[in-house]
Amino acid sequence: MCRFLKWLMIPLTLGLGTGALDAFAKSASSLSQAAMVSHRLVGSEVEAKLLRSDPTYVSIVRREFNVVVPQNEMKFGWVSRKRGEYDFTDADFIVDFAQKNRMKVRGTTLAWHRNYPRWLWDTNFSGDELKKILLEHIATEVGHFAFKFPGRVFVWDVVNEAIGPNGKPRPETIWSKIGQNPGDYIPLAFQAARKADPTSELFYNDYGIEEVNSKSDAVYELLKSLKAGGVPIDGIGFQMHIGFREPLQMDSVRKNMERFSKLGLKIQITEFDYLLPNNPSQELLERQARAYHDAAALCVSTPACEAFLSWGFTDAHSWIPDFFPGYGSALYFDEKYQPKPAYQGLLSGLLLR
Ligand code: XIL
Repeated sequence: MCRFLKWLMIPLTLGLGTGALDAFAKSASSLSQAAMVSHRLVGSEVEAKLLRSDPTYVSIVRREFNVVVPQNEMKFGWVSRKRGEYDFTDADFIVDFAQKNRMKVRGTTLAWHRNYPRWLWDTNFSGDELKKILLEHIATEVGHFAFKFPGRVFVWDVVNEAIGPNGKPRPETIWSKIGQNPGDYIPLAFQAARKADPTSELFYNDYGIEEVNSKSDAVYELLKSLKAGGVPIDGIGFQMHIGFREPLQMDSVRKNMERFSKLGLKIQITEFDYLLPNNPSQELLERQARAYHDAAALCVSTPACEAFLSWGFTDAHSWIPDFFPGYGSALYFDEKYQPKPAYQGLLSGLLLR
């Protein structure tokens, strides 16, 4: 389709339902093609076990994405089952797969209050010991990928979900015992990551900070002061786990992205999914399509926004039903790997500028 026609169709696309989205999106035959047109990255979390065993899953990943992120395989609890021992077999498998298919990889996540090793739970380590453990972990893991696959893991989520709902650093994270104050580990983690790989982009990643609200205000102040103090932080990840009962106010998301980008930060949408109840109505599926469309279109029209990643792509394999029972329809391929209306929504959103 010629460029002029494409532009003519934009108002139609915005004004009408998914039928019009369909027509607009026909000019690109995959998400990665659409993202390439817009100079963006598009991808999903993937699992090593499925890349090893499920040819349909593999063919969709190869066709649709130019970036992937291991769902759990890089998390501390996965890579270090015993203190001082590391096993990167599963994460290596994913990074190697990405390399062979010319995709980038997001690394997630180095300091989090969840998914860390059992041995860390079991012993009552002092703050100093925990500091040593965290810094060694970051040096080992980031160093491993920088050495084995230079440049491939282009982003690390260094700190994940550090701010609690009250806008303060979470005291429940094990890392809060480091230093005098609960957030003292945050700059240390970024510095250790930069030292281990001077070339990858270092991100702060969180949920519930998409709009301008008290939590995003707190994260904004945190990152502003870290940057002012010379802490190496390059970007912010908006997870964007959304429920159909609490749709995002996109004007507010846009304003929020603008203020973070003015701090000199890059932006990525890192874990998009849109919760719908099982067996959703056509109306809800179209609402979901619109939400995928709007988020991708916002990323494409925001210069600082580099990437749109969802947390999974098929309802056959999603974390949602385990954590939110009854809401198993959050993604854009159904359980049989057939595209849902949300696929067309995402595709057309990626093409908009
Ligand atoms: C989730 C995984 O999908 C689950 O398999 C695991 O049990 C827990 O973590 N925010 C994040 C992701 O940053 O790492 C989480 O992934 C989902 C919420």
